[in-house]
Formats: sequence, structure tokens, C-alpha cells
Amino acid sequence: MMEPCDLLIHSAAQVVTCAGPPGPRRGAAMRELGIISDGAVAIRGTTIIAVGPSAELRRRFHPAREINARGRAVCPGLVDCHTHIVYAGDRVAEFEQRCAGATYQEIMAAGGGILRTMRLTRAATTAELVEATLPRLQQMLRLGTTTAEVKTGYGLARDAELRQLAAIGLLAAAQPVELVPTFLPAHAVPPEFAGRADAYIDLVIEEMLPLARDWYRVSSFAARSIPLFADVFCERGAFDVAQSRRVLAAAQALGFSLKAHVDEFAELGGLAMALELGATSVDHLDVTNPVMFPALAVSATVAVLLPLVSLNLGLSHFAAARQMIDAGVAVALSTDANPGSAPSLSLPLTMAIACRYMRMLPAEALLATTVNAAHAIGLGGRVGAIMPGMQADLLVLTEADYRWLMYELGGSPVERVIKRGQVVVG
Ligand code: NIG
Ligand code: FE
Repeated sequence: MMEPCDLLIHSAAQVVTCAGPPGPRRGAAMRELGIISDGAVAIRGTTIIAVGPSAELRRRFHPAREINARGRAVCPGLVDCHTHIVYAGDRVAEFEQRCAGATYQEIMAAGGGILRTMRLTRAATTAELVEATLPRLQQMLRLGTTTAEVKTGYGLARDAELRQLAAIGLLAAAQPVELVPTFLPAHAVPPEFAGRADAYIDLVIEEMLPLARDWYRVSSFAARSIPLFADVFCERGAFDVAQSRRVLAAAQALGFSLKAHVDEFAELGGLAMALELGATSVDHLDVTNPVMFPALAVSATVAVLLPLVSLNLGLSHFAAARQMIDAGVAVALSTDANPGSAPSLSLPLTMAIACRYMRMLPAEALLATTVNAAHAIGLGGRVGAIMPGMQADLLVLTEADYRWLMYELGGSPVERVIKRGQVVVG
């Protein structure tokens, strides 16, 4: 007696399941992909119900619809766990300044950088922000991203930050990429508070965080148990450790999950502070002293590395992914997609650079953009692996071998994208 299912994907040269025990993957387990040759995946509604050899699943299931993967590879939908994609305008002129030798920090100190994007974003309506961001999400989907974290941080004032949150809510309902909201009001010191960063932090704590929490409570994110994160840019020229701690501790008391941008250019001590508060992820870690790796390895915190920033800024230094993985740190990779330090929406390019410049293996890079990236945004039990019970988010690649995702430079070997059981690309 055959069982019904809504969709059966079969005849994949490899089904790269990324299946494993609960929790983020570390050490040698970051190389175990659980590949099934000539594999198939059965889906009912939005959920994966079975994974196994094609012959077995074709005997077992009577599908309403089938997809013959024709010897291509199938892998989990990719998870981009750190993005700043809701903004207006661009930074093309600053890009040319950097080509001519100016540094990212010099441009930031001169009132450009994040503050330039802030001025343009403040002037935009919620509808304009949605309109500017939709094509970015469409491109991400074509590149294989089925879930993305999205930060505010270009409003830097109460109403403008809330407009960014509202835009994230509208975008989540308007297109297939599943979004996870992060509130980042302490991304830069706004001009109204120049030289008075502590006064701005007071405003963030007293007014902005409670309003963001109230927005979330009645949002579709809360209804679907998607967490709300708070984040901070702990960096020279942005916020120091004491200010960052105040923001994150206040957010935690209000029920936010935590993230922190730490050690991008200068190591201020934000990493130890974020670990102490039990942050879900710590992001960047480009200049982290390796003496911190054992503490990171024994924590539940995921290290999110963003190699496109080094690539884009023309730096020869990359985060020490190899050493971190060998020390047992749970490493995730993300684009950091933003108009300044990483104008790219491509996780395949991110993986390609991580393999070449951070000495990650292809298997580690894939786990870092699936299972571990999902854990970095609190969705580890739901997305990032092809296992019964997980959400049916899958890619059919154009090639038989998943390593084409990292091998091809600047391409997109993605043929079809399936999100929550629906074919959304291809
Ligand atoms: O993650 N580091 C801080 N924030 C972003 C850059 C944002 C921007 O330049 O607009 C980052 O690199
Ligand atoms: Fe960032």
C-alpha cells in the first residue's frame, strides 16, 4: 500500500542531507554531509517526510507531483544569517574613493559610510524601502538563499528604525525568502548625538528597544515563533564594550535574542562580553586573538564569518576559520550583504572565497551556510538540513556534485529552488 505525498524529488545524483544530531556542528563533524547517492526526498505540505534512495522512496510513495532531478545534486536551501539589505541608495561613489586608496574607516569617520546610507534611508518611506529591497531578495532566492536574517541599522532614530522593521515585516509576506528580523539601532552614532554616544544608548534602551519589542509581539514573526534579535556594532568609531553591553543586556531583559558585530577592525573585548551574555551568534571575528577560540568552542554561540568584507575591502587578512574549526568552534558563513562593506547577495561566492582564503573545505562551507547558519538565527531545528520533520527548503543544482557551489567563482549553479514545499524558482 503506497503512501501519499505532495512532492517527490527523485533521481538526484546526490542528496546532500546535512543531517546530524541537534545543535550546531563543530570540529570533524563539520565535514559530515550525510550524502545519499541516487537519492530522493518526499514532501507533504511544507515538511520533509522521508529521505532515502530513489528506488526505495519511489516504491513507498504515491506523489501528487514529482520532480526528476536527472542526476543533479540536491542540497538544503541556503541560510544567509547576517544581512543589511533594507536600505535606500547606494555607495558607488565611495567604492571609487576606496579604489583610489581611501579606507572604509576613513570614509566612515568623514561622515560617509553607514551615515551616508542612514541619510538616504531616513528620507525613504516604508513602501520605498520595500520596493528597493524586493529585487535584492529575488536575486538571493535565485542564488539559493531560502532563509535570511535582515537587520535594521540605517535609521538610527526611533521612527526610521521602526520603519525598517515594518519594511522587514512587509517583505516577509511579499516574497518566498523567509526572514528573521534583527533590530540594530546601535549600528553607528547618529549625527544628532555626535560625541554623546551614551545619550544615544539611553534613547535606544529607554524608547527604541521597548517599541521594537511591542512591534514584534503583534507581528507575524512572533506568531510563527521566529525570534527577534538585537545586535550592536562594537567597534572603534562606533560603540565601545560598555555601551554595547548596556544595549544587549537591556535587550535581553526585554526578551530579545542577541547578536554582536565584534572584532571586525579592532579587538575591543566585545567577544568576551557577548559570550558572557549568551549571544546566539558573534559576527565578523576578523581580528580575534586565537586565545579566545577555546572559550568560543565551549560556548553555545555560533561564530559568523563574513569573508566578502575582506574581499570587497581588498584586505589580505581573513578570519581564522581553519583554526577556529580545528579548535571546535561552530562556524557559520554569511554574505553581510550591505551597500558598503559587502555589496553582494551571493552565498555561493561567500563559500567560494571561504574555501580559497580561509582554507575551509567544501563540506565545511556548506554546513556553515545551512545547519550552522540556521543555528546562528535560532532556526536550527527547522531549516538547514534535509531530514524528516524539517521544513521543505531545497535546491536542485545544475550539476551532479554539490562542490560546484564553491568551485564556480561568481556563478550560481542553482537550477530550482523549493521553499516550504513549493517550487519558487525553476
Ligand atoms: O557588517 N560592520 C558594520 N556593519 C556592516 C557594514 C554596514 C555598512 O557599511 O553600511 C558590516 O560590515
Ligand atoms: Fe554586518
